[in-house]
Amino acid sequence: MPDDTVELEARLEEAESFEPPESFVEQANVSDEGIYDEFEENWPECWERAADLLDWDEEYDTVLDDGDAPFYEWFTDGSLNASANCLDRHLDERGDEAAIEWIGELGETRTYTYEELHREVNECAAALRELGVGEDDVVTMYMPMVPELPVAMLACARIGAPHSVVFAGFSADALATRMESAESEYLITCDGYYRRGDPLHHKEKADEGLSQVDHDVAGVVVVDRLGDEYDHPMDNGEHDYGDLVAEQEGATVDPVERDAEDMLFLMYTSGTTGEPKGVKHTTAGYLSYVAWTSRAVLDVKPDDTYWCSADIGWITGHSYIVYGPLALGTTSVMYEGTPDYPEKDRLWEIVDEYDVDIFYTAPTAIRAFMKWGSEYPEQHDLSSLRLLGTVGEPINPRAWKWYYKHIGGEDCPIVDTWWQTETGGMMVTTLPGINTMKPGSAGPPLPGVDAKVVDTAGEEVGAGRAGYLTIQKPWPGMLRTVYKNDDRYISEYWAEYSDPDADEWVYFPEDGAKLDEDGYITVLGRVDDVLNVSGHRLGTMEIESAIVGVEGVAEAAVVGGDHEVKGEAVYAYVITEEGSDGDDEMRDRIVAGVEDAIGPIARPEEVVFTPELPKTRSGKIMRRLLEDIANEDELGDTSTLRNPDVVEDIQRKVQGD
Ligand code: WTA
Repeated sequence: MPDDTVELEARLEEAESFEPPESFVEQANVSDEGIYDEFEENWPECWERAADLLDWDEEYDTVLDDGDAPFYEWFTDGSLNASANCLDRHLDERGDEAAIEWIGELGETRTYTYEELHREVNECAAALRELGVGEDDVVTMYMPMVPELPVAMLACARIGAPHSVVFAGFSADALATRMESAESEYLITCDGYYRRGDPLHHKEKADEGLSQVDHDVAGVVVVDRLGDEYDHPMDNGEHDYGDLVAEQEGATVDPVERDAEDMLFLMYTSGTTGEPKGVKHTTAGYLSYVAWTSRAVLDVKPDDTYWCSADIGWITGHSYIVYGPLALGTTSVMYEGTPDYPEKDRLWEIVDEYDVDIFYTAPTAIRAFMKWGSEYPEQHDLSSLRLLGTVGEPINPRAWKWYYKHIGGEDCPIVDTWWQTETGGMMVTTLPGINTMKPGSAGPPLPGVDAKVVDTAGEEVGAGRAGYLTIQKPWPGMLRTVYKNDDRYISEYWAEYSDPDADEWVYFPEDGAKLDEDGYITVLGRVDDVLNVSGHRLGTMEIESAIVGVEGVAEAAVVGGDHEVKGEAVYAYVITEEGSDGDDEMRDRIVAGVEDAIGPIARPEEVVFTPELPKTRSGKIMRRLLEDIANEDELGDTSTLRNPDVVEDIQRKVQGD
């Protein structure tokens, strides 16, 4: 090893912090430290800075209306259209520039210039209208990473129909539940897609989901992704996407003027209780917030090629593949495939080929890259990269440093961005042109974001202490409610630390966090019954109810066990009914049951059959102990258990494997 490498290794091991490279600072969109004070002193008017990034049909009167807190309203009385902001306004200057660079799993590529994307969105919007989709009708989309997904989202935005995108990896049951909850009468889906070169027949899952929806479905549109490869069924009056759009060739649809607070989309996410929550995001607050954070945190500029490797089926893809980057008029890369197909250098090949400037991914992916080895990125020229980002789960310092060195060439700041489906956009992260980076710590709250780490009584903890993350002031990108369930909005997010009598409202994201002496926040993970498996958010209750639905199962408890690549893995502890055997056949049925109810992402890593679960005297399952067993940690206190012996039995079973 040459000397300088040895030295560098030592420095990386020791370093607790890294400064942003001067070359980055010089060109950063935001590099003046004064922005923190400016936002604090001028709150909430500071958020006009975000609103100014948009084109408005009608100017707003009030930045924040907190009259009915925590049902906050932002930019009230303003009106605008999200699709016009993402497309029409860029046409003059950037019509011929790429809006979306799509790369298919099999290596096919498609470039949509802003002009072309605008054209197809108009045709799709006209087709949806023709089908009967009206303003405020919720359109469900159950599609993988095909370009027609962002087209359809923007087409809906154009006609004022909120979309509800269901991740393509979710099961038929999950699709049906979400369509029913949203009372959605329209579905856009596709015949299939490729995974590791093999075609998946997605349409069958969509059909199965549709057959379970109780209300009438007025229109189903199917994108033909697999062509001759799959002669998909179309015998239920579905429409072919290609035909519908072709019929509307050249059609234009005026963007509908939407009120600032009108719903832009719904996104279902997991919570503590079994039912997924329909998180409602609005037009102006959400769009301005994702545009603002794309600009300030991801440093996106119109001439950049920007790539977020998330799936559009999750919030990260909504905010930072579609709405944020397109609102700023940049080029957004969209990759259909997996990172290790055909080879483990696939992503770096794309960075090299497209001269990607900004790359945003999840820690779980970085841990996989690390495992595969640095020889894969080393095969490519990654010098086009200017900034790296991560999102979705805590990143351990070792993975951070690997990313910094092997992908960023020690020349790119990393933003570790903490946020949630509910927050719409980033909340806690360094600003890459300003702040020192500390591996493993997300950083200070963004300007204008009032994040505090508190103890159980709601008092701020001091430096070096752990507690609970809270957000003490509203922000434009926040969810407005749980769809059709205002009570749940209050009870899930505002009940813990607010004082309604004093009209003081504190948002609780259900994450644990630690504060350091510089005000940096290290997010420790969820404190509710939500798992984070490969950056995907899964409710333990949802998985448990799927398992209990399997014949022969009496009771189940699901916890997260540490996993080297996934972060957390699903551990299921199962009690069988009298007369049923906990054997391999049953294990297979349990795994299949979870896949059917939720999807393969929730598949249990371990199924442990046990005659009993550890319970307190009041009958509550002691999940902490089950987690200790999964992680082979020293067991916590068992003295309050009704049945302490069972713990050792279970431990022997798991660790004896
Ligand atoms: C976790 C994804 C640590 C956290 C955008 C949060 C993180 C949940 C980070 C939201 C981060 C997200 N560091 N933890 N940088 N980013 N999380 O709704 O537990 O899918 O509550 O949104 O992911 O997951 P969601």
